[in-house]
Amino acid sequence: MKGVILAGGTGTRLRPFTNIVNKHLLPVGEYPMIYWSISKMVKCGIRDILIITNRGDLKDFKNILGNGENIGGNIEYKVQPYAGGISHGLLYAKNFIKNEKFILMLGDNIFEDSLVPYVKNFINQTGGAKILLKEVDDPKRFGVATVDESTGKIISIVEKPQQPLSNFCVTGIYMYDSKVFNYIDSLTASSRGELEITDVNNIYILKNEMSYEILQGWWIDAGTHASLFKANQLIQEQFNNTRNDNNE
Ligand code: G1P
Repeated sequence: MKGVILAGGTGTRLRPFTNIVNKHLLPVGEYPMIYWSISKMVKCGIRDILIITNRGDLKDFKNILGNGENIGGNIEYKVQPYAGGISHGLLYAKNFIKNEKFILMLGDNIFEDSLVPYVKNFINQTGGAKILLKEVDDPKRFGVATVDESTGKIISIVEKPQQPLSNFCVTGIYMYDSKVFNYIDSLTASSRGELEITDVNNIYILKNEMSYEILQGWWIDAGTHASLFKANQLIQEQFNNTRNDNNE
């Protein structure tokens, strides 16, 4: 398996900091935000990681992360020339992925669970895709999945619905086979002018090739001031708990 992390965007909800620094390089605990996604991948044995970011921010990522050897990864970089959506950004990973299965993560998603069991289940799955869901109080901000718990299948996903049909938010942790690139080629831009990852996921659902699991621990999309603050608190608590465990 390979890994792809999307770390572009304009970070408008984190201004004024994002006027001078890419959102994914803001501190969460003692590391830049993106470190946590890389570390989750490395802990699953995924070493080959592609970071996709904006042209203007590329130098900063390279300065901080280099080729990834300090974090146990082998990091490459690609530029997404404009903010055309998650699926648009993912297209820049096509040559890196070739025919392999891979995990895609949004670099502002910070969470507690280890990815090891989910990745293992996806490796054992014959192709297709897997997404990870989390029950949230404010589903309107996210892609929202309707699931049929009796069959264990997702019925559909709606992006930022006005009237969510469930509280299951689609997290920014996705696993795909390489057919994803053909599916992206068939997309047209949404009303917000983006190639949506939700549209890709709905294609996998229609083809009956989508599985899902529900994250057990905390999960946060650290793209706003309030959620970035919360992410810092949760990471600090995690750090304190690990330190206490080690001292016992
Ligand atoms: C994106 C996806 C959305 C998903 C969310 C998770 O939203 O479009 O489906 O629930 O990431 O972080 P955006 O960050 O574009 O608002």
